[in-house]
Amino acid sequence: MDNFDSLYSRYLDEFNDFLQSRTDIKKFEGRDSDGFYSVMEAITYSLANGGKRIRPVIALEFCRLCSGDHTDALDFALAIEMIHTYSLIHDDLPCMDDDDLRRGKPSNHIVYGYANALLAGDGLQALAFETIARSELSDDKKTAAITLLADAAGPCGMVAGQAMDLDNENKYIGLDDLKATDSLKTGKLITASALMGCIAGSADREKFLAAETYSKNIGLAFQIVDDILDVTGDESKLGKPVGSDEISGKSTYVTLLGIDEAKRLAKELTTEAVRALTVFGDDAWFLEELASKLLYRES
Ligand code: IPE
Ligand code: IPE
Ligand code: MG
Ligand code: MG
Ligand code: MG
Repeated sequence: MDNFDSLYSRYLDEFNDFLQSRTDIKKFEGRDSDGFYSVMEAITYSLANGGKRIRPVIALEFCRLCSGDHTDALDFALAIEMIHTYSLIHDDLPCMDDDDLRRGKPSNHIVYGYANALLAGDGLQALAFETIARSELSDDKKTAAITLLADAAGPCGMVAGQAMDLDNENKYIGLDDLKATDSLKTGKLITASALMGCIAGSADREKFLAAETYSKNIGLAFQIVDDILDVTGDESKLGKPVGSDEISGKSTYVTLLGIDEAKRLAKELTTEAVRALTVFGDDAWFLEELASKLLYRES
């Protein structure tokens, strides 16, 4: 019988093995040119190493909850992590947050240069959709997943949130605008993770809606905690710089509410998320604990 840590690390190992096997194949499909190898190496540098992998874990667990077998969601989980990794590579570029450290290592553009970092992100985005298209799930499931992920990642999802986030620099924005920004830049991809797990696991409508409520709430709580850790965190545990938001002059939950009130809001959202899990019964223990671990995380 698994406990939280053992199940999380099982998902992590399985996911990382799967990721490795898929990206190894891609390397051999390459052309014989230095440029190709730089971009593929830049992709592997950011994708293969580190990261909490919470989005894949959420996808795998929702699939297990709905169908009893998590492995059907591996391709979807990989596609989501590819989009997430691309968003981090671009997020760190000088034209965005200008951060030099990511997942405990120099950011992609520091190692490979701006052009390769840009192309690595572009390449990951295409690879994400190719990964879904090539999966062995039914065409209906693949179409649903591609539509959902494209919406979550695209100009009405994460990309919109990132644009709003940059537009928010050096000015005061209200709490409602901040929540709208974060629901897009961070929330959309976390919600897509839960819902793509549900699609892979053939969830019924009730479970699908419960997964949506859970993931929207933990998604927003996740960004609130991220903003708090940008102030109170330890760079060696976070693997990315602290104080980045202040340098960029961003309005965050900390600047708008203060640390205590921001923590209270994250806790309230977490409670709301856990409440939505009742439809899954006792079997939802892992997602319940995950919500609380994410609330009290240090990295
Ligand atoms: C960082 O995401 C970016 C945000 C959405 C706040 P994660 O904290 O999930 O980053 P990794 O994948 O663990 O590096
Ligand atoms: C970035 O939010 C969210 C995305 C990459 C879409 P942040 O800019 O706060 O993330 P970190 O703190 O750099 O990880
Ligand atoms: Mg950012
Ligand atoms: Mg950033
Ligand atoms: Mg941040």
